[in-house]
Amino acid sequence: MANQTKKMTSAIVVRALRVWSGLFLLAFVTSHLTNLSLGLISINAMDVARPYLSGVWTGDITGKILMSALVTHFFLGLWAVYNRPTLRTNAQDIVQLVSGMIVVPLLATHAVGIGMLSSAGVDFGYADTIRLFWLQLPTIGLMQVILLAVVWVHGCAGLFTWLRSKEGAGRILNWLYLMAVAVPVLALLGYAEAGREMLVAGRDGAQLAFSNELPPNVEVPFALIKEVTNGIILGSLLLSGLTLAARFIRFASQKTQEVTLVRDDGRDLPSTSALSLLDGFRRNGQPHANLCAGRGRCGTCAVRIIDSDFPLPSPTELELRTLHRIGALEGVRLGCQLKPSGGRVTVRALYPADYTFEDARPVEEPAEEEAMG
Ligand code: HEM
Ligand code: FES
Repeated sequence: MANQTKKMTSAIVVRALRVWSGLFLLAFVTSHLTNLSLGLISINAMDVARPYLSGVWTGDITGKILMSALVTHFFLGLWAVYNRPTLRTNAQDIVQLVSGMIVVPLLATHAVGIGMLSSAGVDFGYADTIRLFWLQLPTIGLMQVILLAVVWVHGCAGLFTWLRSKEGAGRILNWLYLMAVAVPVLALLGYAEAGREMLVAGRDGAQLAFSNELPPNVEVPFALIKEVTNGIILGSLLLSGLTLAARFIRFASQKTQEVTLVRDDGRDLPSTSALSLLDGFRRNGQPHANLCAGRGRCGTCAVRIIDSDFPLPSPTELELRTLHRIGALEGVRLGCQLKPSGGRVTVRALYPADYTFEDARPVEEPAEEEAMG
């Protein structure tokens, strides 16, 4: 029991670390994209705002915090994938998983290049970056647009899944939806306008107005930058591949019992003891409310247990906390957390499959049935 409590506490800490490191990274990306959108004014405006919107995140201490958040979030993201009993989930969740796995390979060129140049004593401002991406290496420039889209989609999918599980978030969600569109669109327009400014300056032979020379005695370790970038790209892809393979082996070699889920319409839904009720419903194409996509936070997957052939596993600390928060009566369990050990399990969903927090929360009358598990 003490062991189980310890395990659950660490699961809650891991989850919180993943969320807060993700939100920290998203705050940085938002600030950086705001800096980019100033290209709509001029390249000079981007550089004037750089210390406040981008530089503030990459100072001696903040840079280390940012890097730690990225590394922590990357490994906790892979850990979440490894622990997922099924990858059959909703479209938003799949987009989030896939985008998360390709962020690092896409980010490597940009982050390693700028980071190592700055360590070598080269202050690479927006004028230099825009010239590099628009005039000298346009393919890498195009990759930055893809990077922006992938990082932004991933971060927003995470933010909205997290917020949708919080009651009362409805009021700010509409503003955030607006920002989710405005921030990347303005950033892309700023990037394009800055590129146009640079191309015109280049055509007029005026690009020398922008600093084009390295400081004296500075040697840029181009070969090393390339080596480190390639190492990070290959390493992160390998880690993602190994995680998926380990997850597959883990669940394929697990001894499972057959489970038959029965819900309101009386139809039998075949499942296994490796799957939560929610995953069992998904496997059978049965819609079931899950505002936090199975993370145990929202409570909308709650079901009343009507009957079970075998005693059900006790709720974990995470499940108990959420059940308590939604005021669940005895005999109610979270569909995303409960994995029946075998046999027939009959349940009744407490929330309509298309439930959102804008709808009134369904109130359950005290159960007449005998409470289970
Ligand atoms: C470094 C590569 C990354 C990987 C492998 C990764 C992976 C993941 C995964 C798998 C999740 C979902 C976790 C779950 O199933 O509960 C997630 C959530 C999230 N990610 Fe990332 N991510 C990465 C980078 C980023 C970046 C750069 C940002 C910022 C734009 C970000 C922001 C978020 C947010 C806000 C969440 C929601 C928090 C949560 O529900 O756990 N991630 N990430
Ligand atoms: S899906 Fe949110 S708690 Fe189960």
